Amino acid sequence: MDGQTTSEKAILKLDGQEVELPVITGSEGEKGIDISTLRKTSGYITLDPGYVNTGMTRSSICFINGEEGILRYRGYPIEQLAANSNFVETSYLLIHGELPNPEEYERFRQSLRHHSMIHEDMRHFYEGFPSSAHPMAILSAMVLGLSTFYTENDDPEQDDNIDLTVCRLLSKVRTLAAFSFKKSIGQPFVYPDNSLSYCGNFLHMMFRVPAEPYHVDPEVERALNLLLILHADHEQNCSTATVRMAGSAMTNLYACIAAGITALWGSRHGGANQAVLEQLAIIHENDGDVSRFVKLAKDKNSSVRLMGFGHRVYKNYDPRAKIIKEACDRLLDHLGVQDPLLEIARKLEEVALNDSYFIDRNLYPNVDFYSGIMYRAIGIPNDMFTVMFALGRLPGWIAHWTEMRQDPDDRIHRPRQIYTGARLRDYPV
Ligand code: SDX
Repeated sequence: MDGQTTSEKAILKLDGQEVELPVITGSEGEKGIDISTLRKTSGYITLDPGYVNTGMTRSSICFINGEEGILRYRGYPIEQLAANSNFVETSYLLIHGELPNPEEYERFRQSLRHHSMIHEDMRHFYEGFPSSAHPMAILSAMVLGLSTFYTENDDPEQDDNIDLTVCRLLSKVRTLAAFSFKKSIGQPFVYPDNSLSYCGNFLHMMFRVPAEPYHVDPEVERALNLLLILHADHEQNCSTATVRMAGSAMTNLYACIAAGITALWGSRHGGANQAVLEQLAIIHENDGDVSRFVKLAKDKNSSVRLMGFGHRVYKNYDPRAKIIKEACDRLLDHLGVQDPLLEIARKLEEVALNDSYFIDRNLYPNVDFYSGIMYRAIGIPNDMFTVMFALGRLPGWIAHWTEMRQDPDDRIHRPRQIYTGARLRDYPV
């Protein structure tokens, strides 16, 4: 793993003493000050709310250059993977570090096919959820529930066959997600059909009804592969950092993924894709007046934010949003869908990108801005959009959990704090 200490040093002057700290340089030239000895040598800690400036680990999985809008998985540009790969191959790449050869690919694909069903007793869990339950709540609970039936990873330190857990998660998460959709619309669960591709099987479980034949549309299958590839990893984002945090305590992989799903649900993170469509619908109901909405999003006194815009790392156009915007046009043309919300999204983007408020803050469309329009065109409801994000992000979460488990420097993640509460006082007796 790269990230070598160089001869460059950082010198801190504290209380008249000089503290020398090593500088780490990554394989793409990123530089970080290694503060792992700071408290021991100076008594000081650092403070960085939201970890805006803080690296939590070295990692070789995903590279982002936010200023230039670059995203690569294991060195491959996202544009090339989106154009040439599929989600199963990209998942293998993220988790194992290299593209699979034909034998590795076939073995991985067959294993994912083999593990598509869930334990039959798990079906009854769905009867306990209200039909109005948010599918992210169901997905997190059901993924955690997998660990009660599949106990091979209960003690990760003793588990010498992590591939079994990986394939169970990647394969069954589709079934869990599709079953939650069927539950919400009162249709019977549709079992996997392992003669279909990874994405084709998901579409089959989502949209087939027992009374009629169902044929997977190759263009929709292609669009879904693209969307899942684009969501597959994004270095130390909130949900991936959550998976790593839980995993650092030696929690099993199923439970760590359930934690990642809950973090992704938040509207500042993966929940934004659902919030984008809700905002576009509100604008549509208000005669499509985007300028009034943009005004609200700029107003510090309003809690409104332009969802699907802005990013902690990208201070340029999110490369994923560019690809999704083009794929959106292709998919809607193929399906013959005229979605008024797409026109509103385009107008919103144009107004915002020419407004100094957004320009000055480097706020551009992110991965969530157009993805919901595609999911909607496929027939996936708003509240399932973040579930789709979770299906895509799963190989990334798994890759980071595995990388951390294999890191000799790995230890439990336990941030410090600066205490600002009451000084010592006695209990009134
Ligand atoms: C994802 O980290 C990842 O990699 C995440 C992700 C992944 O693949 O895992 O890329 C997926 O989560 C994408 C982001 C989805 N979230 C949204 O679209 C929600 C809307 N966006 C914002 O909430 C915000 O931009 C964040 C949360 C994405 C980033 O927040 P930051 O980095 O903490 O930035 P900030 O809140 O400090 O904002 C800086 C300034 C502020 O204004 P000032 O105080 O400087 O005057 O920009 C403003 C903010 O008010 N701002 C926005 C805005 N986003 C930031 N103003 C209006 N609308 C917005 N969307």
